[in-house]
Amino acid sequence: MKKVVIFDSGVGGLSVYQEIYALLPQVQFIYAFDNAAFPYGELDDATLIKRTNYIVTLLANQYQADLVVIACNTASTIVLPSLRQQLTIPVVGVVPAIKPAALISQTKSIGLLATPATVNRAYTHQLIQQFANGCDVKMIGSTRLVEMAEQKLRGKLVDIDELTEILAPWQGTVDSIVLGCTHFPLIKQEILLALNHQVNVIDSGKAIAKRVALLLALPTDVAAITSSIKNVTYSSAATSDAAALNKSLNEMQLDIIQDLNYPHF
Ligand code: DGL
Repeated sequence: MKKVVIFDSGVGGLSVYQEIYALLPQVQFIYAFDNAAFPYGELDDATLIKRTNYIVTLLANQYQADLVVIACNTASTIVLPSLRQQLTIPVVGVVPAIKPAALISQTKSIGLLATPATVNRAYTHQLIQQFANGCDVKMIGSTRLVEMAEQKLRGKLVDIDELTEILAPWQGTVDSIVLGCTHFPLIKQEILLALNHQVNVIDSGKAIAKRVALLLALPTDVAAITSSIKNVTYSSAATSDAAALNKSLNEMQLDIIQDLNYPHF
C-alpha cells in the first residue's frame, strides 16, 4: 500500500487531502499539521523552513512514505528546495494557481487571496510575472480568513459580513480569483457569497491530486475502499476544540489527532 504524508500549519491541507482521497482512496494518508507555529503566514522564513523540514522528514521516515505533499502555499513557496535535498521520495508542493486564473480571466483583472507571507514571497511574484504577464493581479493577504476556516472545521459559522468587508476591494473589480492558501477552499462557498457569485474561483487541489496519482503510478478509478486503511492525523500541539475538530476529521476518513511529540527548539 502506498503511503502519502500531507503537511500544513493547520486544517488547510485537508482541502488538498480531500481531493487526493477522492481520487486515490487506496492510499494510506498521514496528515500532519504544525499548529504550535500557526499561523505560518506570519512566521519568519527560517523558523518555517526548520519546522517543516523537521516534521515532514520525521514522518516520511517513520512511515516509509512514498510521497510527500506540502499542502501549504506559505511553506511551499519557500521550503521545497531544502526539503527535496533531504528526501529521496517525490515532494509535491502547492503553490497559487496563477496560470489557470490568468487563462480563464476575460477582463485580465484577477485577485490573489493568500496569506500575508505568500503575497510577499519572491516566488509568488515570479509566478505572476511568468504566467500572468499582461494581467492586473490584485492581492489580498489575510490571516483572518485562515482563522475563519479553522473555526469552520470546528463547527463555527463564518461571519459573512466580516468576509465581505475584507474582500470589499474586489467587488466588481476582478472576474477571477486564486485561492492561494489551502485553508480557503474550505470556505469557498462563503467567499462566493461575499462576492455575490460574480467571480471564477480557482484553487490547486484537483491538479495536485492528479499529479500525485501520476507520480505514484496509481489507477484513479478504484471504488471507495471499505477495508480498514487507517488514515492518521498528527498535530504539534494540543488543538482548541479538539472534539469538534476530530468529528470533522472522522467525516473525512481521518483518525483522531495524535500528538507529534515535537521537540521544543
Ligand atoms: N494553509 C496555509 C497556506 O496554504 C497557511 C495558513 C497559515 O498558517 O497562515 O498558505
